[in-house]
Amino acid sequence: MRVFVITGAGVSAESGIPTFRGKGGYWRNLDPAKLATREAFARDPKLVWEWYRERRQHIRNARPNAAHEAIARLAQNTDEFLLVTQNVDDLHERAGVSPEKMVQIHGDIFVTRCSRCDFKRHDYEHPPSPRLRRTSEQEHEEEEGDVIPRCAECGALMRPGVVWFGEQLPSSELQRVETYLRRGACHVVIVAGTTATFGYIVDWALRASSGGELIEVNPEETPLSQFATQRAREPAAIAMPQIVDQIISS
Ligand code: OAD
Repeated sequence: MRVFVITGAGVSAESGIPTFRGKGGYWRNLDPAKLATREAFARDPKLVWEWYRERRQHIRNARPNAAHEAIARLAQNTDEFLLVTQNVDDLHERAGVSPEKMVQIHGDIFVTRCSRCDFKRHDYEHPPSPRLRRTSEQEHEEEEGDVIPRCAECGALMRPGVVWFGEQLPSSELQRVETYLRRGACHVVIVAGTTATFGYIVDWALRASSGGELIEVNPEETPLSQFATQRAREPAAIAMPQIVDQIISS
């Protein structure tokens, strides 16, 4: 069976990570859409780093929920599987989706990369236990203080390894999605916990399902709802385990 899954912030909501556009999306009365930009970073890198450090800390303390676990089960029980997540957290990975079956299309919050050259580093070692993160000495120091990291290669400011508003999607990751979609239509497409604001999300979902089964998991209506063949108007942690059980047993 060939399966394609797209997730957004709603899937991590029940792990206590606020969605962007929902309640709790604002930070110190600041709109994430205004903080997650190159302009905001150029104006006030310290403020932007403070926001990301708080989010990193929050994510480190969070645990994958039943939706992440169900998606990992689906990944492990289907012949062909690709997850495209807009989430920059690592909860899918910690639930057990292997990196080759997942594309983090908006980046990885635990990557720190140079704002000028190609240098980047992963700020957390992947620990033996998939559910816990261990901080590296350097990162711990930086998080304790309010140091803005500098590039070890060129000395420019380092920034979080995420896609900001107005930036291009990473081409290598785009290529992985394209390659998977070009291999043919999917038996099942699931889109969970996203407002599907971006055209490419709707486009990928429609291309992958190609008139076949398109399941939307979202308590609210979205631009994708009109195309869905099944709509679960429930929280992902409730709906996903049932949907995955049905797919695996069919
Ligand atoms: P949003 O915050 O826009 O939307 C979250 C969606 O999850 C909404 O449609 C909610 O109805 C739904 N939702 C809330 N709780 C849920 C739950 N328990 N179960 C299922 N669904 C739930 O987040 P995204 O759509 O992921 O991009 O946002 C897309 C992108 O916009 C983000 O990756 C980020 C943001 O700006 C960048 O940073 C480039």
